[in-house]
Amino acid sequence: MFQVKDENSQIELDQEQIKFQSPRGMQDLLPEEHRYFTFIKKVVRHRCRQAGILRITTPVLEPTELFVRTVGEDTDIVTKEMYTFADKKGRSLTLRPEGTAGVVRAYLQNNLFNRPQPVDLYYFDPMWRYERPQAGRYRQFWQFGVECLGGENDPAIDAQIMHLGWKIISDLGLASDIEIQINSIGCPKCRPQYLENLANYYEDKKHTLCAECKKRLETNPMRLLDCKNEDCQLLAQNAPKPTEHLCQECSDHFQRLQEFLKVLELPFNINPRVVRGLDYYTKTVFEFWDKKKQGAAALFGGGRYDTLVEQMGGPATAAVGFGMGVERLIAEMKARKIGVPHKDKVQVFVAQLGHEAKLKCLPLISALRNEGIHTMNSLGHSALKAQLKLADKFGAEWAVIIGDLEVQQDTALLRDMRIGEQQILPFDQIIPTLLNIFTEEQRDTYTPGELEWLETENDLKNNSIYFQ
Ligand code: HAM
Repeated sequence: MFQVKDENSQIELDQEQIKFQSPRGMQDLLPEEHRYFTFIKKVVRHRCRQAGILRITTPVLEPTELFVRTVGEDTDIVTKEMYTFADKKGRSLTLRPEGTAGVVRAYLQNNLFNRPQPVDLYYFDPMWRYERPQAGRYRQFWQFGVECLGGENDPAIDAQIMHLGWKIISDLGLASDIEIQINSIGCPKCRPQYLENLANYYEDKKHTLCAECKKRLETNPMRLLDCKNEDCQLLAQNAPKPTEHLCQECSDHFQRLQEFLKVLELPFNINPRVVRGLDYYTKTVFEFWDKKKQGAAALFGGGRYDTLVEQMGGPATAAVGFGMGVERLIAEMKARKIGVPHKDKVQVFVAQLGHEAKLKCLPLISALRNEGIHTMNSLGHSALKAQLKLADKFGAEWAVIIGDLEVQQDTALLRDMRIGEQQILPFDQIIPTLLNIFTEEQRDTYTPGELEWLETENDLKNNSIYFQ
């Protein structure tokens, strides 16, 4: 609700004067940004629903150990980027830096493995990583992710999930110039031998590696392949490739994946240097890159993780998924000058003067809103002139004006704000006239659907298992 201010009352505040700022790397989502968020959420919901993928939300906090054991204790995320603290009982908790670990925990904790498989889930939630804030990298960011759990270990599913990601970025106008970088990093059978070969290759080249890679050689040698340092990149070019050391099963998997990607007409490139920064992957890994920017900032990425569920104490379960940073999608849309439709327009502004006028306005405003007409008002004490200026600033197309005279005569003025013309109407003609002006398509008559009265406890259970 708004208080009318003097039209010139712009307050200039020195940023230093403001007592609090949001934490570095964490930003407010202002209404203009929400237009993008809403649009992206709708695309995601639509595409996921078409594919039978259901939404899940896990708590923002998880036991720290969950991420250490799944994402990997030597990964950047775990060693440098987690927001970790002890609760009042001294239990270590972490703000989730990614979605996969929590979803797998929820799959096990809620016995989702007993439901018909696969269980395909998506999330659209904030994540936290203590990174150096820069374009496309924030400390709080939103991620949309999909996890397909309990399907077969079949590369057709990997291709299908990449295709889903492709459809979503196509719907957002971002598919041109995007190429999928694919790789296979093997399985617990073939990877140890590959890692040994990799370590041997680097053994006599250690001195040219950056400080970070010298450490990684001991803890996480595959990450040497995607280091951004120039010298390390040169060395990585001649390093043994994961795909040259795959066992027969992984090699077949990778071959068949490529056939499936071809029939789906997805543009891909085999990139031996895409290894991903999380430990749980097996076989397929992939990233969607802008061809013009190369690996500078992957738009999104994912892969297969067939051993994770078992590693967390569950039954052997094949799984594959991806995660997309929503801010990155929005930044890319803006860079490509892509706008989104929104319904934030003010269609009618109701201006009034005095207590009697307000008594007439309140039900009128409510009725207009119920008809789906976006209606604003200013119910504080102020002059009609100031209210109309405000209506103009909000971009209202029409104004309904009720002053003393109109109250006495049971009328109202209807003013076309775009051309400044107005007419006097009987008060009870205001709504029918505005319903003629705004066609059904221009009205916002969305409803969430009809309520249902459920008959049995079982119906209730099928509807919701949580709030019982
Ligand atoms: P990730 O590559 O670490 O994978 O993150 C996925 C996406 O999240 C990135 O490609 C990027 O779009 C976005 N992202 C990551 N960090 C930031 C940041 N600091 N600021 C803004 N956006 C960021 C995962 O998180 C895996 N859980 C994906 C996955 C799901 N794999 C299988 N299932």
